[in-house]
Amino acid sequence: MPKVRDMQLFYATRDGQSRRIAERIAAGLARRNLTVQPQNLADGIPAPRTLAEEGPVVLVAAVRYGRHLKEAERFLTAYGALSAPPSLVLLSVNLTARKPGKDTASGNAYLRKTINRHALRPALAAAIAGRLEYPRYGWLDRQVIRFIMMLTGGPTDLRTCVEYTPWDKVDEVAMRIADLCPPPTS
Ligand SMILES: Cc1cc2nc3c(=O)[nH]c(=O)nc-3n(C[C@H](O)[C@H](O)[C@H](O)COP(=O)(O)O)c2cc1C
Repeated sequence: MPKVRDMQLFYATRDGQSRRIAERIAAGLARRNLTVQPQNLADGIPAPRTLAEEGPVVLVAAVRYGRHLKEAERFLTAYGALSAPPSLVLLSVNLTARKPGKDTASGNAYLRKTINRHALRPALAAAIAGRLEYPRYGWLDRQVIRFIMMLTGGPTDLRTCVEYTPWDKVDEVAMRIADLCPPPTS
């Protein structure tokens, strides 16, 4: 299989859904003969030299309490400091994205604010609905998320585990990323 050395796929997760989404994208890319290994940003932020290699660079980042995880923010700061950044694909994973119209760069406030804060010009940006799993949260997180769900018309039963991720949309995003890739070298 031809190898795309220059494409990089990173994720920032706490509960695993962003990793699953990154893995699904990698699987989609593999079907287009593109190989990429998802890398967990919790293991370290790539050096600017590595990050500056030819794109696209893909980031799948979870939202907690209104912000993307801190390692994702650090990653975007490092990316923003590059003098000649490769193209960026930014995928935000959150529960707000389950609502119609809240899955786009303009409609999703977390994504929109992050793009503005870091002055990014992503080649592709989308919000992807994540997973709600009350039983795994600590007491305080459970109460806060339940309150948010109450306000936004989501499930409030504390036994609820529901995956909102639209996997067909993730597969579509993978195809759009493949279209952004330079032709593979053999
Ligand atoms: C403590 C906590 C805070 C969260 N805060 C938000 C939030 O502010 N907005 C939102 O839309 N989703 C929020 N979520 C939902 C997560 O974004 C969602 O569960 C996502 O799937 C988590 O991704 P991960 O499994 O990769 O960590 C929160 C979840 C937790 C557990």
